Amino acid sequence: MLVNSNTRFEAAEGKLSGSGVSASLRVVGDLAGIFLDEEARSRRDPREAVYEVVMHDACGAAEGGLFFGVSRVYPGKIGAEYFMTKGHFHSKRNRAEYYWGIAGEGLLLLMDESRQCRAERVSPGSLHFISGYTAHRLVNTGRSMLVVGACWPSDAGHDYDSIQRDGFGLRVLDVDGQPQLVPADG
Ligand code: F6R
Ligand code: ZN
Repeated sequence: MLVNSNTRFEAAEGKLSGSGVSASLRVVGDLAGIFLDEEARSRRDPREAVYEVVMHDACGAAEGGLFFGVSRVYPGKIGAEYFMTKGHFHSKRNRAEYYWGIAGEGLLLLMDESRQCRAERVSPGSLHFISGYTAHRLVNTGRSMLVVGACWPSDAGHDYDSIQRDGFGLRVLDVDGQPQLVPADG
């Protein structure tokens, strides 16, 4: 039997649609305690969009399954800090993930459990393997939408609490109009 899937992924724009697809939006009001300048964040319109995630769920959060998603981080800053995702470790720490750049310019911040950090440049066509035990956060350093694809084990889960509590060891700030990696610890 031959059937057409009604789920579509338009790879060039990162547009995901059809059955099993859902979207969630993170606005300024959801991101208390994430940015360096909390005072600047609290003065902004809490409804302002920072990023959205569109994902395809074919199997639920079962072991052995996969999720597929597209993250779109809006251009913007809170104080001097570029718009970014909350960032997380996977709850099952050994679960890895692929990201790939679709549109826009940004950085992928990576941090291991001993808080060793590094950043990879994200641009259309860049491929990023995020190994297990590694927290990850996307930062939009450009003037247009940063669009990034992702595929990860569906039982990975998200541990946001450790990042909410301890942050990343690196921040990305606009210094004289250029993105700069600034150590956040010590
Ligand atoms: C899934 C994953 C991405 C992120 C998305 C939003 O494991 O890494 O789909 O969930 O980029 O970022 P967070 O989840 O940190 O708000
Ligand atoms: Zn992840």
